[in-house]
Amino acid sequence: MEPFYLGNLRVPVPIVQGGMGVGISLSGLSAAVANMGGIGVISSVAIGLTGNSPSHSDSYAERNISRLREEIRKARAATRGILGVNIMTVVSDFSEMVRTSIEEGIDILFCGAGLPLNLPSYLGNGPNPRLVPIVSSARAASIISQKWYQNYGYVPDGFVVEGPNAGGHLGFKPQAVDDPGNSLDHILSDVLEVTKDLEAKHKRPVPVIAAGGIFSGEDAFHYMQQGANAVQLGTRFAATEECDASLPFKMAFVNAQESQIKVIKSPVGLPGRALFNNFLKEALNGDRRPSICKHRCIKTCNPKTTLFCIAEALISASKGEFSNGFAFSGSKAGLVTHISTVKQVFETLKTEYCKAKSLAGKR
Ligand SMILES: Cc1cc2nc3c(=O)[nH]c(=O)nc-3n(C[C@H](O)[C@H](O)[C@H](O)COP(=O)(O)O)c2cc1C
Repeated sequence: MEPFYLGNLRVPVPIVQGGMGVGISLSGLSAAVANMGGIGVISSVAIGLTGNSPSHSDSYAERNISRLREEIRKARAATRGILGVNIMTVVSDFSEMVRTSIEEGIDILFCGAGLPLNLPSYLGNGPNPRLVPIVSSARAASIISQKWYQNYGYVPDGFVVEGPNAGGHLGFKPQAVDDPGNSLDHILSDVLEVTKDLEAKHKRPVPVIAAGGIFSGEDAFHYMQQGANAVQLGTRFAATEECDASLPFKMAFVNAQESQIKVIKSPVGLPGRALFNNFLKEALNGDRRPSICKHRCIKTCNPKTTLFCIAEALISASKGEFSNGFAFSGSKAGLVTHISTVKQVFETLKTEYCKAKSLAGKR
């Protein structure tokens, strides 16, 4: 597997661990991935609800700020590798999460779930992170590139292209998730056209990271043959020893059946791929409506009409309390057979990748 560059940052192994909230990818998982030469990513969403240390503030945003600081510092202390923070554009404390990550000297900001149109406005004169939007269409990649250049003279440092087989929130209309025209192969090739134009215009590389349903080294080889510079994996890293969630959360992936993996409507206003369970059945029946909105975490969630509180459901699941929550999951969760270490995942991916490459060479 070839190293790749994000701006002037050399990434030794072209594997990115997708940010996973709430409380799934924190310092433990991200540092382990960074130590293997990939990019480890801390998920910032509702991070203040994670951890056991008593909070010094009642404010949701302040708790998120201090927990994010804490997790970035813990990860930094555990690795000299490359670290990113994932920030969903629809969260109510987007500005606070971006500013805190920059103050803590994070290497990369990954922003999806909406178009992060004002992201470059947060950059200062100090050491700045590379900015990598997560997109699910060439149109989104074009709009972001145009607005960033027009308003800030900034060219994206790269893109994550996330297809419909990813876990978590999907950047598609519900009816478009299964449209073969939206397969990762298709949208990757469309986004590569956009980045080729950007590279020609601005005379600098704009690497592309493919994501969504990538599980094996053979999958990684396939997308890198199509032109991706790297791949992003979520589900495969959820069932690792270093993953920051509880053991029952990880075991939900080991025990996942193909038939359980479903696309649901999330309170965020986007479809989301998840492991369907009794909680979701009851929630979608209208039996889990929250009586109050405690956090106001998502700009697009209407607490009066939402069928369930997404922050509470995800934090419960991370602790293994599936009677009150559920796990997001990519389409390949059925392939998880056991809990591995991050090192084992990297070694397996590399071996499978090399095998796929040598087979392709013989054809
Ligand atoms: C449990 C879980 C939580 C996730 N949380 C987030 C998140 O907070 N922000 C985000 O941008 N993507 C999130 N994702 C998507 C991942 O970052 C990743 O892009 C995706 O899972 C890749 O597909 P795969 O799981 O098939 O490998 C989540 C995915 C999973 C499985």
